[in-house]
Formats: sequence, structure tokens, C-alpha cells
Amino acid sequence: MNDTNKTILVTGCAGFIGSNFVPYFLDKYENYNIVNLDLLTYAGNLENLKEVENHSRYKFIKGDICNRELVEFIFTEYDIQGVIHFAAESHVDNSIKNPAVFVETNVKGTFTLLDVAYKHWMDAPFKYKEKYSQTNSTSNIQHPTLPRFHHISTDEVYGTLSDDPTDLFTEETPYAPNSPYSASKASSDMIVRSYQETYGLNTVITNCSNNYGPKQHDEKLIPTIIRKCLAGEPIPIYGDGKNIRDWLYVLDHCKGIDLVYHTGKEANVYNIGGRNERTNLQIVDSITSILDEKVPRENNKSYKELITFVEDRAGHDKRYAIDATKLENELGWRADENFDSGIVKTVDWYLRKYLEQ
Ligand SMILES: NC(=O)c1ccc[n+]([C@@H]2O[C@H](COP(=O)([O-])OP(=O)(O)OC[C@H]3O[C@@H](n4cnc5c(N)ncnc54)[C@H](O)[C@@H]3O)[C@@H](O)[C@H]2O)c1
Repeated sequence: MNDTNKTILVTGCAGFIGSNFVPYFLDKYENYNIVNLDLLTYAGNLENLKEVENHSRYKFIKGDICNRELVEFIFTEYDIQGVIHFAAESHVDNSIKNPAVFVETNVKGTFTLLDVAYKHWMDAPFKYKEKYSQTNSTSNIQHPTLPRFHHISTDEVYGTLSDDPTDLFTEETPYAPNSPYSASKASSDMIVRSYQETYGLNTVITNCSNNYGPKQHDEKLIPTIIRKCLAGEPIPIYGDGKNIRDWLYVLDHCKGIDLVYHTGKEANVYNIGGRNERTNLQIVDSITSILDEKVPRENNKSYKELITFVEDRAGHDKRYAIDATKLENELGWRADENFDSGIVKTVDWYLRKYLEQ
């Protein structure tokens, strides 16, 4: 670690998005150290971080965000001056089977981080108290040196949309979470808000749509489609396959987070989304077409014939779609990747992974 740098705590970086974010961020900024706190649940994989494991400005700590003593130790030991909070239980299907761990990690874990950050940065006897005591969340005043707590959240907190293409999630859309996962994320967003409003902690929240790209856990839709194709097994598709998600390439999400962390207005929420609505069937269609070309089956049939419809997920939201106008207009964010280019990169990455195994 470089002693003259700012050290930020980034949680959950052994997972999908965090492990794409860390190399991007270390590469872009030389004036930051990153401490990664990750429990390495089934979803965390240090292989995802191989490229930075010996980086001089990166430190991995295995531990639970709910462990207050550990979080306090990290804040003091490394003089943490910012938080980007990815760690969560993130798979909707698992939340239906076992909601308790979602409440524990996503709600209590976020509370623990917020409370320790508040105590460390703003509450006596800690050193930031005097400097930041004038913070007023309703003023929208920028405090460039005030440590920031950036909470990574999801568009799923808004519930589901109608089929009308003009019906989009904005930052003003009322929360209506439908799964234990989205409810636990919605709850954590509310606790973040309360630390801003009550204590003046400098917070921002980003609510992003479905991400795709390298390093996602095998259980998620896109890696599952590719794995099943390569194994010649049925590709399971929920219901009629017409549920719509708004897909964003993971590095575009990372760039949006970077922008909001550095230039977003305090106490604000920003939606991040790719304006890339696709039904699950369209996703399967794109991937199987790419695979038909890159790794044709021995029988020369299309992988599409492996599509199998299975019983729908309970409480399955019909449609998500993000209006990212605020992020685009206020902070100048644009997605660099379109779906056609992003999905080819993604398939190539999983082909390397699965064919080398
Ligand atoms: N993947 C998406 O499409 C998407 C979209 C929008 C928002 N998000 C949000 O982004 C964040 C990251 O998502 P992801 O897809 O990378 O998740 P992921 O499941 O791939 O990774 C989660 C990481 O958190 C760690 N973790 C879990 N419980 C922990 C605990 N108690 N203490 C410390 N670490 C713990 C896991 O070990 C894992 O490394 C989540 O907050 C999620 O809600 C994800």
C-alpha cells in the first residue's frame, strides 16, 4: 500500500462486478489504495482477481461485512476514506429458497458498514468530526474531501414494468420490490438514505440493470446458457421466455460507478442502464447463434434446439428497463459497449474458461 494515497474500502470484489471494477480502478487511478473485504461465499472467487493479487495498492481481507469488530478494525488500521459497497447475496432464485441470508448480508451488512463509516468519519472522538460537522444533506453542496459511501444497488427495487416501451424506471419510481432479494436491496437503500438524512453521511446510490460480461458466477443466465450448450444439455428457460431485462456490459457499469463516486451529487440516486431491452429468449438466440458459428455441434444442428421451457420463477418480474437520462445529462455517462459487441466478448471469455477446464 502507498502511504500517501487515499485508501478506500471496496466490498465484495471477489464477485462478478467487483472483480471487473478493481483492475479497472487500479489501472485508471494511481492515487488510490483498495482494501477488498469479501467473505468468499460460494459467489466469491479469488481466481477472478488473479491479475491484481500482488498489486502494490491492493489488499484482500477475507471477512464478513456483518462483523462489526472487523469492519472497525479495517477503518482504523487503513484509515478508510471512502467506501464502494458491492458485497451482497445477489441471486433471486437463492433468495426464494433461503431469504434469511439475504436479510442478514444485504440489510445488516450494509447497516454495519454505514454505522462504522459514520462513527469513523463523523462522530467524536474520530478525527473527521470537526471538518465535516457542517454537512447538510438537503443542500446538495459538494464536499469533495468528505469521505463518500457509495452503495451499489439494483433496478429490481422498483418492481416490474408494463409492456409499454415508454414505461421506464427513473430515480423517482416508487419502490415496489417483489422478491426477497430485491426487498433486501430496497431495505439497504433505505438505510443508506437514513444515514444521509439523519447523520449527514455523504452517500450516493446507484441502481443498475442486469449486467453481463466476464467473471459472472456459473449460476446466472448467460453462463448457464453457454455451459448447457457446450455440454449438449437442455437450456432451461423460465415460463415463456418473454421476461424482459435491460442488459448492460459490466465495464460500462464500472465506469458509471466511477463517475458517480467521483462526481455524483451527494445524497443522490443515479440509475444506470444500457437501453438494451432483451427477452430471455432473445438472449438465448444471440448466444446460440454465436456458438453455432464458433463451436458448431457435431450433428450440425443449432444449439437452439436445446431450449427447454421450465416452470416459471415465483413472483417473476415481467419487465425491467432503466431511464439513465439523469446520469447521461448530469454526469455525461454513455455506455461504450452495445449488446452485439458485448455479447461476443462475453461468449469468447466463457468459451476460454469452459473449454480450458
Ligand atoms: N449482477 C448484476 O446484474 C447486478 C445488477 C445490479 C446491481 N447489482 C448489485 O451489485 C453488487 C454486486 O453484484 P455481483 O453480481 O457482483 O454479485 P456476486 O454475487 O457475483 O458477488 C457478491 C460478492 O459479495 C461477497 N459477499 C457475500 N456476502 C458477503 C458478506 N457477508 N461479507 C463480505 N462479502 C460478502 C461474495 O463472496 C461475492 O464475492 C450487489 O450488491 C448486487 O445487488 C448486481
